[in-house]
Amino acid sequence: MAAMSAREQLIVALDVETADAGARLAESLRGRVGLFKVGSEVFTAEGPLLAKHLIASGYKVFLDLKFHDIPNTVRAAAREAAAMGASIFDVHAIGGRAMMQAAVEGAREGAARAGKPRPLVVGVTILTSLAAPDLGELGVEGGPEASVVRLAKLAQAAGLDGVVASAKEIASIRRACGPHFVVVTPGIRMPAAASNDQARVATPAAAIRAGANFLVVGRPITQAADPAAAAQAIVTEMERAQAGAAAKAQNP
Ligand code: C5P
Repeated sequence: MAAMSAREQLIVALDVETADAGARLAESLRGRVGLFKVGSEVFTAEGPLLAKHLIASGYKVFLDLKFHDIPNTVRAAAREAAAMGASIFDVHAIGGRAMMQAAVEGAREGAARAGKPRPLVVGVTILTSLAAPDLGELGVEGGPEASVVRLAKLAQAAGLDGVVASAKEIASIRRACGPHFVVVTPGIRMPAAASNDQARVATPAAAIRAGANFLVVGRPITQAADPAAAAQAIVTEMERAQAGAAAKAQNP
């Protein structure tokens, strides 16, 4: 990926009940963050209203609907996501190679139809909410780490641009998939903040140092008394980590 500023790398999860609430939050963060993530809660409640409103207002959108279906259905959904003008959308890698290839083809077709750039297509490998015993119950042996890397490699082979992964998983994904594979990392918390229900958390600086291309941050920004100030504090921490990494590259 071309070098991006910390601000461009920050995705804010608009986990809200109504399109109105999402639009208001986005407005309070205008110019301070890179993208807004629209997920299944508000999409189920209001359909594409919020995503379309944000795109029409000049914001970039990560459509987080984690498509997982037969290839033909995923291709059609991907076409619509791209035609809508999403900048990123995701699919479950566990849907398999043909389904992921269909997602990329659908994205290309939808973008061409609408005359828009093709969105990045990223795969969800193993949900971070699943631990080894949960995977065992599903018949997936070898623990989360091995499965994450296997699915990331499959996603790359199928033509996906990257994966969603916790900070802890970035290093092994980078080793397996190289420097150009996009890694989108949720589970971000400021030092000394509440982790909420996230189990595998990292600070913005740690996630940037580990090699994340995008950070997804929800509650630490959306539930802050001053969301704009919270976003700025995270961008500042990301910038510090980038500056540290650049200095280290010059003076190893
Ligand atoms: O509020 P918080 O910062 O925990 O929000 C994180 C966002 O990232 C939520 O929208 C959540 O659904 C999403 N996400 C995650 N872990 C994943 C994939 C997505 O937390 N593995």
